[in-house]
Amino acid sequence: MTDRPRIGILPGDGIGIEVVGAATRVLEALPLEFELERIDAGWSTFERCGTALPEASLAAARDCTALLFGAVSSPSTEVDGYSSPILELRRELDLFANLRPVVSSPLDSSRSGVDMLIVRENTEGLYCGRERLEDDGRIAIAERLISERASRRIAERAFAEAERRAETLARPARVTVVHKANVLRMSDGLFRRTVLDTAKAFPAIEVEEQLVDSMIYRMILEPQRYDVIVAPNLYGDILSDAAAALVGGLGLVPSANVGDRHILVEPVHGSAPDIAGQGRANPIATLRAVVLMLEHLGEGPSASLLTRAIEYCLRHGPRTEDLAGTASTEEVADAILEQVRRPVPAKAGF
Ligand code: NAI
Ligand code: MG
Repeated sequence: MTDRPRIGILPGDGIGIEVVGAATRVLEALPLEFELERIDAGWSTFERCGTALPEASLAAARDCTALLFGAVSSPSTEVDGYSSPILELRRELDLFANLRPVVSSPLDSSRSGVDMLIVRENTEGLYCGRERLEDDGRIAIAERLISERASRRIAERAFAEAERRAETLARPARVTVVHKANVLRMSDGLFRRTVLDTAKAFPAIEVEEQLVDSMIYRMILEPQRYDVIVAPNLYGDILSDAAAALVGGLGLVPSANVGDRHILVEPVHGSAPDIAGQGRANPIATLRAVVLMLEHLGEGPSASLLTRAIEYCLRHGPRTEDLAGTASTEEVADAILEQVRRPVPAKAGF
């Protein structure tokens, strides 16, 4: 191994392996100075090693400049010794913000005019997994942690993202704060108060609030009105899958887990056991996650090249089944690779 900066590749399980395999081929074709390092994590790692994130994997991840993660298959029942590696990575690397851009695609199945960024708090809420059983297993209790510190950190990030987007797009910014403080007055109440207090430092940004249930309703009816959405962990998780359905599906939507020192990008979707191993998964969400990584790393030209290649293929190229096509994961990756290597000039292709 050389001492070039490293990008850690964590395929995980199920279609994670397929879409990250495709994305790795594309990454290798870009003019980048990074070394790629494969890192083991996930259910199959747990079956082999008795832990889903071995210490060596965590140490390797810490040493990487950036990480590309696929998806892992987490069981829905308690399994002794298993804990989700993505949650552990988010916690250990302090990846406190989960940024999920949801934009329209040139597809019949996509609503037009959608361009929003879901900013999901990534370290606490119900995702802390603090659960216990009482009354001989007849009562289950989950603790939902909300802290002022984490709420302020995510709010600051959301407002900063809103400012950046407003500047790039030369239009006013709006941040929608999502909560359920009418019921969860203490926990969501603290989140809401802290975000609204943070907003005072950003007077140019329009701030509105929306209860999470009506938020999903309104987002489905009128997705075009949203700009930046900031939400506690589980609400952000649910909102982003719903939002994906508005723009062509989970096969298209990426996310970036960011902290002060690390970045881990991944598709929003999971390991999709229903189609795993069949080569039918759409690799575009993962390739768009690679774009987020390249932008973060300051690799602007490669990010633009890949963005244009993806856009071209969405318009003209082969499509996987989720986009009403018949192409395989690898065929889509090949078409995007061809555009990365020999882009069709903009005026001819777009
Ligand atoms: P999922 O997101 O894996 O799939 C939901 C539906 O969308 C399925 O019908 C699937 O076939 C389809 N789909 C997802 N990605 C696709 C793609 N790239 N191309 C075409 N179709 C795609 O959610 P599901 O099925 O509820 O979760 C399965 C497993 O994934 C569970 O074990 C869960 O724990 C895990 N999961 C892992 C995540 C992670 O590692 N970050 C995130 C979400 C779920
Ligand atoms: Mg999710």
